[in-house]
Amino acid sequence: MPGLGSRAFFLCHSPFPSVAAIIPAIKFSSVIGAFMRNVTFGFSLLAILIVSSTLTLAQQTLLTNDQVNARVDGVLKQMTLHEKIGQLNQLGAADWNKDPVSPEEHARRCDAGSFLWTTDSKLMDRLQHVAMQECRAKVPLLFGFDVIHGYRNIFPIPIGMAASWDPAMVEKAQTIAAREASSTGINWDFTPMVDIARDPRWGRIVEGAGEDPYLGAAIARAQILGLQGPQLGTPGHMVASVKHFAGYGAADGGRDYDASYIPEELFRNVYLPPFHAAIKAGAGTVMSAYMDLNDVPASGNRWLLRDILRRDLGFQGFVISDADAVKSLVVHGYARDPQDAAYKGLTAGVNMDMASKTYLDNLEPLVKSGKLKESDIDEAVRPILAIKVRMGLFEHPYVDLSQVEQILSAPESRQYTRTAAQRSMVLLRNENHTLPLKKDVTSIAVIGPLADAPKDLIGSWDVENKSTIGPSIFQALRAKLPNAKVNYVAGGEMKRKYPMPWGDQSREEAPPMTTSQLTAEMDKAVAASRDADVTVLVLGENSNMSGEASSRSNLVLPGNQQQLLEAVAATGKPVIVVLVSARPLYISWAAEHVPAILEAWYGGTEAANAITDVLFGDANPGGKLPFSWPRGSGQVPIYYSHNRTQLPEDAPDFKSRYWDIATSPLYPFGYGLSYSQFAFSNLHLSASSAKLGDKIEVTADVQNTGSVPGDEVAQLYIHQQAGSASRPVRLLKGFERLTLAPGEKRTVHFTLGKDELSYWSGQSKSWIEEPEQFDVWVGGDSTATLHSTFKLEQ
Ligand code: NOJ
Repeated sequence: MPGLGSRAFFLCHSPFPSVAAIIPAIKFSSVIGAFMRNVTFGFSLLAILIVSSTLTLAQQTLLTNDQVNARVDGVLKQMTLHEKIGQLNQLGAADWNKDPVSPEEHARRCDAGSFLWTTDSKLMDRLQHVAMQECRAKVPLLFGFDVIHGYRNIFPIPIGMAASWDPAMVEKAQTIAAREASSTGINWDFTPMVDIARDPRWGRIVEGAGEDPYLGAAIARAQILGLQGPQLGTPGHMVASVKHFAGYGAADGGRDYDASYIPEELFRNVYLPPFHAAIKAGAGTVMSAYMDLNDVPASGNRWLLRDILRRDLGFQGFVISDADAVKSLVVHGYARDPQDAAYKGLTAGVNMDMASKTYLDNLEPLVKSGKLKESDIDEAVRPILAIKVRMGLFEHPYVDLSQVEQILSAPESRQYTRTAAQRSMVLLRNENHTLPLKKDVTSIAVIGPLADAPKDLIGSWDVENKSTIGPSIFQALRAKLPNAKVNYVAGGEMKRKYPMPWGDQSREEAPPMTTSQLTAEMDKAVAASRDADVTVLVLGENSNMSGEASSRSNLVLPGNQQQLLEAVAATGKPVIVVLVSARPLYISWAAEHVPAILEAWYGGTEAANAITDVLFGDANPGGKLPFSWPRGSGQVPIYYSHNRTQLPEDAPDFKSRYWDIATSPLYPFGYGLSYSQFAFSNLHLSASSAKLGDKIEVTADVQNTGSVPGDEVAQLYIHQQAGSASRPVRLLKGFERLTLAPGEKRTVHFTLGKDELSYWSGQSKSWIEEPEQFDVWVGGDSTATLHSTFKLEQ
């Protein structure tokens, strides 16, 4: 039994401990003490924790499975069939104005286990009081929201945070997001999205960690720990929902919601590992996806939700469908009618129906007609009640709202959004040390439709306009250079052809610029650029051009931005391109003609200040690409861990598998420059051979050979040379982001064991490790050349 304050307590990440661990009555102060000893914060959240926590011993108590089950049985026994079905229903605020029954009345009737899409703290508090005092079942409510990368203080979009290759930073950012959201009453977060995305046309690439399962798993784990804390019920945290289970990122043609066809080998080796990592880190809930997976909709897919999720990945929490996904089983042509949809969703393993009332309206008749048994309903309700028990909600359902403003306005949180944005940026090109800029620059032109667009820096997800919007890039540059002439010109515009089906459509509805207006804008931009010592050209996509329902067929710079780029570059003045986007864009022309390119993503509240920090060398970029950057749309899907072909690119006289474009990406996975340079050397393996199941230790030296301190991400890749399946040319199996002073050399350590060396075999339908020869590379991106080999033996 680990005592509070012991390391074991805080390292137990699973909310489903198999070992009895009942925490005796201990003082609040020792909980905080242990927390602070074991979690390294760059700044102190102690003050916030002390003032804000209605911390209770029950919330800190690790319950055994038996204790939770006993508690759940006790509650379940008291519930009517209707009350049980209510627990399987999540009511969405989007429908409240159309619903003749008020949310309070629904809560009174025990119609819902959860409400979603409200940030109104008073309403949540009222509903919770009704659920606990007026609904007969007295089961606390979950309040769900998409707090994707911050609540008030907004961090970089998830793909940007993944580009930091810094799980500790990601965990801390999500800790702050959880702290803020939970103080308002939101106790359930529909994050993280861990869908692997290898086709950047897909708009939701913005929300994931890119193309690679190993990086994806590391980022997924960090997000769960940040959002949920070391265990469910930790004050200041929420329950997380890992989504969208599974294969949503493989949508045909990158079209959102389109069908995915994924062979089991690919599914298990590539798409599932981030989910598995999140589940191992304790994810309390999983969201089932919208799309068809191999012809069966994910939210009605028994194989997916029972065999894979529960049996193989060991998930013990509960499954929520994506919004309306159960109802949509009819639209897919999979269910005959809503009752059939309810039947198929429930029996497939969806515990809670998001927003569609399909369960609420149809499960009772299904039980009454004998098609379902009440025990089927009980089976679905149990894990929902169990999560509520583990969260301590039965004892402590209410939030102390007097603390909200203090938590949301903590200056450290805003400051940390700047650090996170700095650490996320990726320097793609920097010829002749164009960057960093000198601070004595006297005139600067800031050009581009995104250069003075502060709201776009927040990204496609914000929390009902609760986010703090920081300065625009133009404003931040002006503040940074009070004595310089800083001149802004939009230079043009861009619009979606088809507006978002929901949300703010004003941008698309405003009349487009005429050709002569566009020409005038471009002329102004060229003149401003000519007039200035240097031009910062901000290009990319409006924030509504990626996200849900925001896929596109082509990766070119939208609007007139390519012409603007070429016109401004033709001035011959130094041009720095800052990209604001959530996906790689087609920038091959810029990569040849412009000396410096910085991918800044949608960096959040302090994005613009962080960009100026990087442009002027107050921060040294160290992010690395979480995807392969294509040369053009025709190359996608593109990813580094492809298989070898019978005629590979390194064969003599064979350059590409296309005749019109190189096969290789413009920038490889894992790539990113710094204002320092780094050298890798001394790759050492603990043995040249090892028995199956044994471990090989890998070390290599990394040295900062530049003249300023900087960060490098040491990356380890392997390749299995032969076996019972063709294996990818390279696979990431370790990484570490290091900060090194000029001249400093450090040794990085990696371990290759069964987890790293096994793969799921379609032949044997199992994970296998094979007695074969392996290559190992360590370096700063996926083209690393420092190489060694070892052999695994029987
Ligand atoms: C639909 C999205 O696909 C999902 O990611 C989100 O969590 C839900 N809507 C709830 O807003």
